[in-house]
Amino acid sequence: MAQDRRGEWGSRLGFILAAAGSAVGLGNVWKFPYITGENGGGLFVIIYLICIAFVGLPIMIGEVMLGRMTKRSPVGAFRKLAGDKTLWQGVGWIGVLAGFVILSYYSVVAGWALEYTVLAAKGEISGGDPATLAGRFDQVAGDGTGAILWHVAFMALTIAIVIGGVQKGVEIAARVLMPMLLLMFIALLVYASQLEGFGEGLSFVFGFHTDKLGAGSVLEALGHSFFTLSVGMGAMLTYGSYLKMDDDIVSASVAISLLDTAVALMACLVLFPITFTYGMEPAAGPSLVFQNIPIAFAQLPGSTIWAVTFFLLLVFAALTSAISLLEVTASYFIDERGWSRSVAVPVTGGVIILLGVPSALTASSEVFGAGMEGAIGKNWFDLFDYVSSNWMLPLCGLGVSMFAAWRLGDEARRVQFEVGSRLGKLAGLYVTWLQVLRWAVPIAIVLIMFHAIGLFEM
Ligand code: PFF
Ligand code: NA
Repeated sequence: MAQDRRGEWGSRLGFILAAAGSAVGLGNVWKFPYITGENGGGLFVIIYLICIAFVGLPIMIGEVMLGRMTKRSPVGAFRKLAGDKTLWQGVGWIGVLAGFVILSYYSVVAGWALEYTVLAAKGEISGGDPATLAGRFDQVAGDGTGAILWHVAFMALTIAIVIGGVQKGVEIAARVLMPMLLLMFIALLVYASQLEGFGEGLSFVFGFHTDKLGAGSVLEALGHSFFTLSVGMGAMLTYGSYLKMDDDIVSASVAISLLDTAVALMACLVLFPITFTYGMEPAAGPSLVFQNIPIAFAQLPGSTIWAVTFFLLLVFAALTSAISLLEVTASYFIDERGWSRSVAVPVTGGVIILLGVPSALTASSEVFGAGMEGAIGKNWFDLFDYVSSNWMLPLCGLGVSMFAAWRLGDEARRVQFEVGSRLGKLAGLYVTWLQVLRWAVPIAIVLIMFHAIGLFEM
């Protein structure tokens, strides 16, 4: 029976931890601060928060619901509900494809973090002057062979855990690592609040300024709200498929979104005070966290321990997210093609390893880096990141929201929303959620996309 090969969460907390582990990752600690820096902070952060609350969260609820109703991963879920050979299946396909694309470069960044952990343990990034420490990143990212090896090492770790299956691998990893990550950030926040540049950092993140907000910024904020919540590619749908019928989807989704947002804002409130205190560039791009954190630690007693702990936690945060990405690609082959887990996981993982090689080479190669930039304005790494999070996730998310809001029977949908949930039964909440998903979400996504391709000016 197909059902027997599928796992189920060991406890109510299991889903929340694993889904939160999927959400909280490099998106919060690495990507959000650097795109906030590039887009000038302020208004960008506000737009992002609006996208989380009114687009990402409502879609997450719909996605988890679709997973639990069908006990399938994305493609199968749409097939089961909409029938064979419909366009809806294409929505699932975009999701699975996005899983391959995202994990391929995500693992390269995680590989940098892995290498930084080792460098930190050797004491190589916990002392010295800021310029040397900052230059370290160019060495790490610029060494193509090294980047490939660390990318492969990280993928091997991910593959090993996902082969362990839903309960043993995913749930345990998240249960131990999430609380540690939070503690680390609270400690870092205390440290950052003592810095001279804390006030400047604070007003950069929360002040109202629009100076660097470009035409693409709104799309980037929207795309990142999907990326950071792990919605719009079926990861939450897949995790939802391991849920029991009496679990509370609404409260879990709200809790996960709040936690994810808290970590992202904490990361900014740690990184930007450091940036301003040591006269670094807020718009440094992907190198931001790798350059700034070691510089800050170098000033502290026990800097080696701090640096090792930080980068280790970053690796763990990346790992629990990578697990969910690989789970999506693998569960397609498990559910739809009848592959066993021990075949589907290494095979899709292997494809992702190959797909990540050009991203690992970006900083050192003429073909995938500067040469490509000359031709199309983006290197391979940036292109994969841009296409997946700014286009594939919102498109798939659009499909998920349309399906959940318009195609599902109202009876079944309401039961999914309310069952086991005090919050879900709150007067008017169901109807509000439904109307947001029916109207606000699709209109916002379509308008922002049209705007980004230049169909109209705002
Ligand atoms: N949400 C993860 C992060 O913020 O790092 C990235 C991610 C994981 C995106 C899983 C999509 C996904 F399905
Ligand atoms: Na996130």
